[in-house]
Amino acid sequence: MNTLSIPKWSLGFTSLHEEVSNAPLELSGTIPETLCGTMYQIGPALFEMGPRTVGHWLDGFAMISAVRVGGQDVTFSNRFLASSWYRRALIKDSLAAGGFDSPIPRHMNYRSSDNANLNIISRGHTLEALGDMPQSVIVDADTLTTRETRPWKHLSHCLASSPHPFFDEHTGERFDLALSARDPSGYIITVTDAEGVSRKLRTVASSRLGYIHSFSVTAHWVVLVEGPFTANPRSLRSRRRPYLHNYVWDASRGTRIFVLDRKSGVLATTLSTRPLFVLHHINAWEEGERLLVDIAAYADPSILDALAFNHGKVPSGDFPAPLATRLTINLGTSSVVCLPLKCPPGEFWKVDSRFSMKPTTVLFSAGPLRTGRPIDRLCRSNSTTGELIQWSGDNCYPGAPAFIANSIEAPEGEGWLLSIVLDVAAKRSFVLVLDAETLTEVARAWLPHALPFGLHTIFVPKEVTQ
Ligand SMILES: [Fe+2]
Repeated sequence: MNTLSIPKWSLGFTSLHEEVSNAPLELSGTIPETLCGTMYQIGPALFEMGPRTVGHWLDGFAMISAVRVGGQDVTFSNRFLASSWYRRALIKDSLAAGGFDSPIPRHMNYRSSDNANLNIISRGHTLEALGDMPQSVIVDADTLTTRETRPWKHLSHCLASSPHPFFDEHTGERFDLALSARDPSGYIITVTDAEGVSRKLRTVASSRLGYIHSFSVTAHWVVLVEGPFTANPRSLRSRRRPYLHNYVWDASRGTRIFVLDRKSGVLATTLSTRPLFVLHHINAWEEGERLLVDIAAYADPSILDALAFNHGKVPSGDFPAPLATRLTINLGTSSVVCLPLKCPPGEFWKVDSRFSMKPTTVLFSAGPLRTGRPIDRLCRSNSTTGELIQWSGDNCYPGAPAFIANSIEAPEGEGWLLSIVLDVAAKRSFVLVLDAETLTEVARAWLPHALPFGLHTIFVPKEVTQ
């Protein structure tokens, strides 16, 4: 093999087989006193089984990592998600067909895969690993052992779902979104109250189904953004193609925006704007008749193609990065303005969670220093002034940041930023702790191995996990 053709970041797409439990990490610097809890990260981490290699990064088997921080002790644990998908593959020593980007055998359907590697959420003492299907894989937050795959009974007939449920911390409600191919085909939004009782808010009918990865909720509204990357519902049901290949990009459709009353489900308005490919909503809030919805918008879905494994070769670029973009929706005039914010391209945008559903100006993200390259810097952007502060290091590839406020009363964006960084020269990863105001390093703790590139992170304060 010509080693010159292997990109230096290939370690980020290389399988990790080792699992450790509560491994103490060597620490340099000082962990802030107020930083106490666990950061969890999820992502694909195993890309071969038996003789076969997955066809796409997102078909890698899910791994959950946990970095526990308290006092000057930092420990690390990582476990593969013991989904039925993973266990079946281990027994057969082969990759099953039917994942994100693989053909599906006749006897299976999309939901045969519970390889929930897309997102992780924490509710109480439990973690939920989430993928594209209407089900959660329940994980013990302390040991990272997998308990069960729990189908979403109220959405059991749906073909796919968003791995980003929205939680309203004020009301205790959880909003979920799923795709239904039944008549009428469309998007089903459900609300689960604080007692765990679920109800359907509405089906938003759509003859073609968009690839909707996340959505927004404000004090009064639910906002769906349907880009022109859509599938025929019958095609999704037919199982003839890999899941991803059902979707077709047709820029001429533009982007549709649905605004629903979050209590009654009434569709208040349907708007359209230029073609966008959106994976992540960042934050949304209301100002009188206006809704401000910040999203991370790609020009097209080519990021999904860029993450394919080409005949076993790791993705070598070109990796597009989205722009933080604001949709300003005027409900009085039924109009929308779509403009980029003053921020550099990046993904995994985070706002200070105390300002969810409130106006925010401080945005944290992970993005590329150079267009087309993998993520190699962490950024703090002021979306109003355009002020940018960044952290980067030679041969270093940071993952999604987690923000932890200094205190309940601290100003927006004052606290700590955590990220697991892959140092491809050292062939190891480290946990990076930054002062979130200046992005200066206050501590780092080396992991025992190189952790492949991950997806989302969450930080759970110690008082929640106790
Ligand atoms: Fe996501």
